[in-house]
Amino acid sequence: MRYHVKNLKLSGKGRNRIEWAERDMPVLRRIRESFAKKRPLNGIKIAACLHVTTETANLMHTLKEGGADAYLCASNPLSTQDDVAASLVKDYGIAVFAIKGEDNKTYYRHINTVLDKRPNITMDDGADLVSVLHSTRTKDAKAVIGSTEETTTGVIRLRSLAAKGLLKFPVIAVNDASTKHFFDNRYGTGQSTIDGIVRATNRLLAGANFVVCGYGWCGKGLSMRASGMGANVIVTEVDPLKALEAVMDGYRVMPIAEAAKIGNMFCTVTGNVNVIRKKHFAVMKDGAIISNSGHFNVELDIDGLKALAKSRRIIRDFVEEYRLGNGRRIYLLAEGRLVNLASAEGHPASVMDMSFANQALSAAYLVQRGSMLERKVYTVPEDIDKEIARMKLQTLGARIDVLTPEQKKYLASWEMGT
Ligand code: ADE
Repeated sequence: MRYHVKNLKLSGKGRNRIEWAERDMPVLRRIRESFAKKRPLNGIKIAACLHVTTETANLMHTLKEGGADAYLCASNPLSTQDDVAASLVKDYGIAVFAIKGEDNKTYYRHINTVLDKRPNITMDDGADLVSVLHSTRTKDAKAVIGSTEETTTGVIRLRSLAAKGLLKFPVIAVNDASTKHFFDNRYGTGQSTIDGIVRATNRLLAGANFVVCGYGWCGKGLSMRASGMGANVIVTEVDPLKALEAVMDGYRVMPIAEAAKIGNMFCTVTGNVNVIRKKHFAVMKDGAIISNSGHFNVELDIDGLKALAKSRRIIRDFVEEYRLGNGRRIYLLAEGRLVNLASAEGHPASVMDMSFANQALSAAYLVQRGSMLERKVYTVPEDIDKEIARMKLQTLGARIDVLTPEQKKYLASWEMGT
């Protein structure tokens, strides 16, 4: 199979949207121009398992300009933008295997199809390619120089593989770059999650009790934006430090068992399983809206919700009504999958510009230095991270100061006090 997308006729719309995103990805554009001259990925096969969006399309284009043979499958069954997939095949000559709404079997078939290409580099968002290469396709891991990982959840899985001494090649944790998680996880998730909830429901946030489960970078961004829309934000946490931050950021903090009784809207961003469970659904108010913006659809105990339900119906796109035995109705968004990518378009291009600049430069770094790296999880080299920050600032027209010689000397001294 050369590609598997919904319909190539959607490519025109996809192409326009890819170009629209490109306008807001100046750093990646610069990298692409440099890649086109230097061809740092010449002869390299890259299998990417990423959300198939307009921003990802620009990354794939960049990798191709760098000389790579690039293959793309989805990192979530519901996040694919079919018009983008069509345009990548038709206009950019990139083999895509992804259809929005594909079932689990097709999802894994697509993952296996890109691995059939025997990639030298894998690029993951959630570690599914690496996971398959370490379970059912260990032989194919031999061709892999290294891998990159886009998201917190994937990095956690990979660190667990590395800690057990099982990791078969080096991995660069793109997520951990400062120019990635400070911006993508916070401002990207903050905006796109609100966008997903609002597009799915068209509900007013002002005055609503909005429960954010998890106060990592994504939770911080989401709380900030929900609060900016006038919601009363309630945070639930298990980590005392993060909970303390939430308190001092001005939010109410309480256990989910209490928040469940008063919330109007709920969104999980913890990266953990069964954060909102059956007993919590049982005490929710009539009309409560529940969603997830964490990587996997495991944060809401949907089986528990189904067990409580007397009936279910789809009431609008991405909104499923569960009527419970107690007569109350709970509304589940996007089947509990990433609401920002399922019912909206994911993070805006400007923030993905930095995330994907890290991906592109990390791929080139792996080609250059991969053979010298150990089978460990590495962070993005600091000079790459800083260079991306510098380029982004330039493209935003923001300039910064430089240390004077006196200041440099002061910072390097221990003698000078009061
Ligand atoms: N993850 C979150 N938003 C995304 C986007 N727009 N494209 C690719 N991956 C994403």
